[in-house]
Amino acid sequence: MLKTRVTEMLRIDRPIVCGGMQWVGRAELAAAVSNAGGLGMITGLTQPSPDDLRAEIARCRTLTGRPFGVNLTILPSIVPKPYEEYQKAIIDSGVRVVEIVTHEPARYYPLFKDAGVTIIHKCTSVRHALTAERNGADIISIDGFECAGHPGEDDIPGLVLIPATAEKVRIPIIASGGIGDARGLVAALALGADGVNMGTRFCATREAPIHDNIKQVLVNNDERGTRLIYRQFRNTARVAATSVADRVVEILKNPDALFEDIADLVKGIRGKEGLETGNVDAGLIWGGQVQGLIHDIPTCQELLDRMTQEATALITGRLASFATP
Ligand SMILES: Cc1cc2nc3c(=O)[nH]c(=O)nc-3n(C[C@H](O)[C@H](O)[C@H](O)COP(=O)(O)O)c2cc1C
Repeated sequence: MLKTRVTEMLRIDRPIVCGGMQWVGRAELAAAVSNAGGLGMITGLTQPSPDDLRAEIARCRTLTGRPFGVNLTILPSIVPKPYEEYQKAIIDSGVRVVEIVTHEPARYYPLFKDAGVTIIHKCTSVRHALTAERNGADIISIDGFECAGHPGEDDIPGLVLIPATAEKVRIPIIASGGIGDARGLVAALALGADGVNMGTRFCATREAPIHDNIKQVLVNNDERGTRLIYRQFRNTARVAATSVADRVVEILKNPDALFEDIADLVKGIRGKEGLETGNVDAGLIWGGQVQGLIHDIPTCQELLDRMTQEATALITGRLASFATP
């Protein structure tokens, strides 16, 4: 049993959260994480409309009686979404926790705060964490440079970013990026976090609603198996190393390259097709450096049992043994 401010606030048994994941964060994975004692997360924008999101939340309730959250990602997008309508769907459905990514907390927080929804603000820098805290966030999820998805433009890995955030922010912190096992969890707690957030690791679980071929890519890749793209657009993204990622890197080596030159290759719909059919060359696959620590495809229950048991053993065994009187 690991009890922290995050387990208390989120009313969960284990300080482990599943981050929002486009096309992956569906009801079956969210429910599996929550049933295993963590906080599962439905990814709001994976659902084509706010009404579809309402239906997905209802479906999740048939699979778990435990708390789960909804991720709302408000970032530059080829197709902008009716974000406020998604917010209303979350609130009307009685969801108590959101993981939000936004550069405009003052604009998007009030609806959630008025409804008493717990706000986990995910960001990649201390200054954005402080802005979120000032605007009333309840928890900061701080995503280090190792992470899958958008690591920001500062390139600060978790070993520095987590304690740097803990030094400045008073509300609880969830450490994100590069965490996949008990060692990462214990390290995050030692660095000042009250819990961890994982993305890539949860893709390589039995319940993740993606093709086995893709899970196998995550197992086979090592810690060097990622590519950074979009740096010149100030929207850096870390994806798994695949033939499509390599082509995008190659095209973007040209300093005059425009987003239009890669727009077709990186279309979300291509990524979705790859995840569903197992065609690794269909589109981008999002994945982090933690692939180097992923060696199996367990159930969420097996993963969270293992992580908490090994974390407890690490704290009370190996670490305690270093502290001589
Ligand atoms: C397949 C995949 C899709 C993701 N999609 C989103 C997303 O839509 N919104 C978001 O906030 N984060 C997204 N992320 C980032 C995760 O929520 C999480 O912050 C990140 O994976 C943590 O790093 P890790 O992969 O090293 O655990 C995605 C990650 C993965 C692996």
